[in-house]
Amino acid sequence: MLPPILASLLHPFHFMAIALTHLPPTILTALLTGDFRTLLSPSRLRAAWFGRFWAVVGPLVRIHAEPNVIPLLQGRVTHGVVPPPTTTTSSEGQPQPHPPVSGTVLEIGPGSGMWTSLFTPAHLPNIHKVYGIEPNTDIHPLLTTQIAAAGLDHNGKYEIVPVGIEALAESGRVDRESVDCIVTVMCLCSIPEPRRNMAQLYGYLKPGGRWYVYEHVKCFREQGWGMRLYQACLNLVWPQFIGGCEMCRDTGKWLKEAAPWSQVDLHQLDGEAWYFTMPHIIGVLTK
Ligand SMILES: C[S@@+](CC[C@H](N)C(=O)[O-])C[C@H]1O[C@@H](n2cnc3c(N)ncnc32)[C@H](O)[C@@H]1O
Repeated sequence: MLPPILASLLHPFHFMAIALTHLPPTILTALLTGDFRTLLSPSRLRAAWFGRFWAVVGPLVRIHAEPNVIPLLQGRVTHGVVPPPTTTTSSEGQPQPHPPVSGTVLEIGPGSGMWTSLFTPAHLPNIHKVYGIEPNTDIHPLLTTQIAAAGLDHNGKYEIVPVGIEALAESGRVDRESVDCIVTVMCLCSIPEPRRNMAQLYGYLKPGGRWYVYEHVKCFREQGWGMRLYQACLNLVWPQFIGGCEMCRDTGKWLKEAAPWSQVDLHQLDGEAWYFTMPHIIGVLTK
């Protein structure tokens, strides 16, 4: 077994190697189905490749992220600290830092639907409607399956909007200031023009609306210049392998600066080691 520091530093190479193994079958499938539009378009090929890769790797990533994401969406995370697991009964009566995700929700970049099961009464009882804003149509069949498996297909409770957030206004599917909560889990690394699109997303929140964030970000100053340099070097190739995912985004700072918030509780995830190449931020911003 590798020592933890070395394993963590090498982890991105392992991840990219797994991604690479999904490229030949993606090309082969396109060839066999005569899908020349995908073969001839680098962006379509990248989307199809990522869809195939994430269908396999997404559930593994979820295993590590779930202990953070579930309490976050339940409103139990504050100052970057995730409370220990608790049953509904044992947590009754305790004050929560934030309300749970509720009402009308935008899930940005749901991908293969790894988190759709959380938008059910078992986890979040007061959700009326979820819009999943997902431009990668190659991943929609899996997302649709997850929506049905969670029982969210009845009355269109979970609706896929097949555009990127930059085209959400044109789609006319969601009105400005009509949304109670935005959920972004590991997706702001992949959107185009992040600062502009974060400001646009803010416009969809009602006053008092909340944005729940769990994202990997650029290495923190405290991790040292060596880690920042190492991450910057990795990022020269990483986005080509992982569907355009950028490692070095200052997402926390950009979100805070995106618009005037009434409350910001967004911090580095407590307990992450200095040698993590993909450190996280976690928390809730309130409009
Ligand atoms: C790393 S995946 C994460 C998927 C999912 N949130 C999860 O945790 O499994 C990033 C997702 O962001 C989506 N994405 C990329 N560009 C986007 C955009 N412009 N608007 C919305 N989502 C986008 C990708 O298609 C992809 O599904």
